[in-house]
Amino acid sequence: MPKAELHVHLEGTLEAELKFELAARNNVDLPYVDVESMRASYVFHDLPSFLTIFYEGSFVLHHEEDFRDLVYAYLRKVASQNVIYAEMFFDPQQHTDRGVSFSTMIEGLTRGRIEAERDFGIRSQLIMCFVRERSAESAMAVFEMALPYRHLIVGLGLDSDELDNPPTKFAEIFRRGREAGFRLTMHCDVDQKNTHEHIRQAIEDIGVERIDHGANLLDRPELIEMARERGLFFTVCPYANEMMRPGENQSIARGMLDLGLKLTLNSDDPAYMEGNYINENMLMVHDLAGFGPDDFITVTRNAFDAAWIDDELRQELHRKLDAYAMASV
Ligand code: ADE
Ligand code: ZN
Repeated sequence: MPKAELHVHLEGTLEAELKFELAARNNVDLPYVDVESMRASYVFHDLPSFLTIFYEGSFVLHHEEDFRDLVYAYLRKVASQNVIYAEMFFDPQQHTDRGVSFSTMIEGLTRGRIEAERDFGIRSQLIMCFVRERSAESAMAVFEMALPYRHLIVGLGLDSDELDNPPTKFAEIFRRGREAGFRLTMHCDVDQKNTHEHIRQAIEDIGVERIDHGANLLDRPELIEMARERGLFFTVCPYANEMMRPGENQSIARGMLDLGLKLTLNSDDPAYMEGNYINENMLMVHDLAGFGPDDFITVTRNAFDAAWIDDELRQELHRKLDAYAMASV
């Protein structure tokens, strides 16, 4: 099925093989002898333990070419799964704090996108995320660095450790971001402290168009109503949810679909999640939550509607899905 991915962290697509290649190229010592032992170290049980491993991985990224290779490898992989459009998160603070310049990063990421479109026909855009456990000043500094590259970044997001880092901590930056023409989304991760208040703030105080994850909205009728009224989209990641709530049979995806909320399905950090890219995430809700062909068409239509693209491209994406749906009845 032609499809879109809207919730994937580029740093979370860094496969162990590429990490070794970049480490060799950049003379970075890795504490693992081979890809198997590196992959075996990817053990986590909650958001903070995941983030520690995830941030260590990005230390091999230094030069424009490295960022280019990262994007290109992800887009090549998902083009093989018939992803025809992707919006990809990147966390500049992970890299600028290590002395990588904003221009090195954005130019490499952009070159990877352009070359992947040339070689595989896949269209893509970038969403810049702020690392929420860092200060609002640090986020503002990186926001200022991004302004000259506004045309290369479609939206702003918020990720990383949610504990005591509510959306309103970044209200001023998101207000300025909206004024500058960025589209807005935010993570509200599963089962976090104060999650209902974080979801409410993201919707009412920040005015996001999407929520990344957002599972706990299902606990509160007033939040469900708010999401319906505003036509909010949800970027849900089945495998990541399975980690947070093992054995729950994908109640999050199922619950959102049954309520008619605008659910989309995505992969989050596939290189750290046993190589589960978007197809494997879709198979997971097929197997565990009984999603069938019509449901996958619904979530894919939602993703095309949620995408931050012009009407011409949106119609083109929908036409490809129409053709697929016609051919498969
Ligand atoms: N950074 C990478 N993946 C993330 C996730 N699922 N939640 C928050 N921050 C992240
Ligand atoms: Zn995420």
